[in-house]
Amino acid sequence: MCASTHYVGREMDTHYEQGKPWKKVLGPVFIYLNSASSNEDSDVRKTLWKDAKRQLSEEIASWPYNFTQSKDFPSAEGRGNVTGELIVRDRYMKQDHGHTMHAHSAFVGLAPPGAAGSWQTDTKGYQFWTQTDKHGRFEINHVQPGDYILYAWVPGFIGDYKLDLNITIQPGKEIDLGALIYDPPRNGPTLWEIGIPDRTAAEFFIPDPYPTRMNRICKDPEDRYRQYGLWDCYSDIYPDSDLVYNVGTSNYSQDWFFAHVLRRGENNTREPTTWQIRFNLENVNRRGMYTLQLALASAASSDVQVRFNDAFSRRPHFSTHLIGWDNAIARHGIHGLYKLYSIFVPGFRLRNGENTIFLTQSRNLGAFSGVMYDYIRLEGPAV
Ligand SMILES: *[C@@H]1O[C@H](CO)[C@@H](O)[C@H](O)[C@H]1NC(C)=O
Ligand SMILES: *[C@@H]1O[C@H](CO)[C@@H](O)[C@H](O)[C@H]1NC(C)=O
Ligand SMILES: *[C@@H]1O[C@H](CO)[C@@H](O)[C@H](O)[C@H]1NC(C)=O
Repeated sequence: MCASTHYVGREMDTHYEQGKPWKKVLGPVFIYLNSASSNEDSDVRKTLWKDAKRQLSEEIASWPYNFTQSKDFPSAEGRGNVTGELIVRDRYMKQDHGHTMHAHSAFVGLAPPGAAGSWQTDTKGYQFWTQTDKHGRFEINHVQPGDYILYAWVPGFIGDYKLDLNITIQPGKEIDLGALIYDPPRNGPTLWEIGIPDRTAAEFFIPDPYPTRMNRICKDPEDRYRQYGLWDCYSDIYPDSDLVYNVGTSNYSQDWFFAHVLRRGENNTREPTTWQIRFNLENVNRRGMYTLQLALASAASSDVQVRFNDAFSRRPHFSTHLIGWDNAIARHGIHGLYKLYSIFVPGFRLRNGENTIFLTQSRNLGAFSGVMYDYIRLEGPAV
């Protein structure tokens, strides 16, 4: 679907407005039909697959091609380049070399001007992305002339980077942006964390598929989540009471279900669920401000409510309100749109000894209401 959506839904829809002319080239489109001898039956699919991948890398190397005639799709000489280097700075990071490090394998891209992270839902403009090398260096080549903003996100760190600079790409010109510094959201030292900040839920517990629904093509461990119906296993594992995660003894790859979904009740009803994170604190600073960094990898018609040490407070201490139209849970994906909430927790809501954070997904708008967490971190007051 080139200019509409199925997977992420209305947040990514392309909106056409009166008096706002708009155009975009979608293509060129290449269709490759290959063939292989069928006398070695067992290997024929592998041969086709390998050959298709070889052809793919050939096409990638040939892009943007030189046969197109449209002035809206310039060849390589009609495009520009951007280079630079991305550095992450985090004063609570334990590093040998102070508090900075090269942004390794960071995603760096040029996209239409907007707020940080707006590239996630932009479908009208052109976007050009690459990944940094281990020194944080990046090179974005063959960028179509136009006005852009440079955005980035770094696996291992939360949040979105945006460079406050309007970048105008001109044919045949290179722009060197030099060293750029990303300060990820951070209010204090890490008290504990769950998961890896990488915008997916792949590191959490993913159950074995129901044998009758097993797709044998997705047998590799990194494809575990690509099986139909996994969300429903939540009700099998937690038939009566919900997930409880104990910081310090639980292991997120075994004890944190990959999706926070509804529980199957009697007669095909579905019920909202409340997960608990239990943790111990000492020397709580009752006047200090703590921060819960809550990063979501996906959301589908959900409202995540957060309560600190009070499961029954009528009003939640924090609510995302109704969010998300991703279909990642239903469509065996592992992420949709990324959302980050930095939630302030006044010290008086915490206590010395055992504490509990209650996470309630309170909406039931069909079987697939739910969220996937990316990463959760509790930060102490700034020191
Ligand atoms: C970038 O361009 C926009 C729109 O023209 C303008 O509002 C903004 O101030 C510019 N930003 C910078 C950093 O020059
Ligand atoms: C957590 O579980 C994973 C998967 O079973 C295992 O590889 C890892 O070693 C465990 N981590 C700890 C700290 O026990
Ligand atoms: C489920 O359906 C049965 C038969 O109609 C009914 O007796 C029972 O009360 C229902 N259970 C619930 C929880 O609604």
